[in-house]
Amino acid sequence: MSGAFIVFEGIDGAGKTTVCRAVAEALSGRGLEPVVTAEPTHVGIGAYIRSGAAGEISQMTEALLFSADRNDHTEHIMEWVAEGHVVLCDRYFASTVAYQSAALDGDSTDRDMLIDINRQFIGKPDLTILLDIDPSSGLDRAGARGEAASKFERPDFLAEVRSNYLRLAEEYGFRVVDASGEPGEVLERVMAIVSEVV
Ligand code: TMP
Repeated sequence: MSGAFIVFEGIDGAGKTTVCRAVAEALSGRGLEPVVTAEPTHVGIGAYIRSGAAGEISQMTEALLFSADRNDHTEHIMEWVAEGHVVLCDRYFASTVAYQSAALDGDSTDRDMLIDINRQFIGKPDLTILLDIDPSSGLDRAGARGEAASKFERPDFLAEVRSNYLRLAEEYGFRVVDASGEPGEVLERVMAIVSEVV
């Protein structure tokens, strides 16, 4: 079996993490050994970002940190794919473009520059699925997880992130899936697309 690189994108609360896990389970049931991974990663620079130790930083600094984490992560992803695994990645380069080019408290980073930086090292996913949901439903879901809200979890900001994602979807051929509704229905929509490449 040859490997594949599949990315899941979407605003906070779109259900990426749940979908990734469910897809992994479905693929394992078919006898495959998928690798589930995420950005920011949980090691090195990714763990540093998640720790919050960087404090108050600009969108640009944050974009560079996310991108640096991605550079290292991409090497691992390519190795897993070469070993024949289906890699299910919760966020990839579109997250940096969609989030860090959106205005947060008046600060944003130039979209073309973010695309340029990432173009230097990113791998080409075999499939990117954008789980599309309106920000208020996404925030309701994210809130139901009971974790402290991140600085990104604001309806106005996430509305801009969503529209950035939809633009990227057109430009890069992402498959857009309606992520509202019951988890089972969403998974069915996603699996129909995943089955085209796996
Ligand atoms: P998560 O909730 O999917 O674990 O992601 C953590 C947060 O990091 C989420 O609010 C989106 C944000 N993020 C960016 O702003 N840019 C990026 O490049 C990545 C990978 C995540």
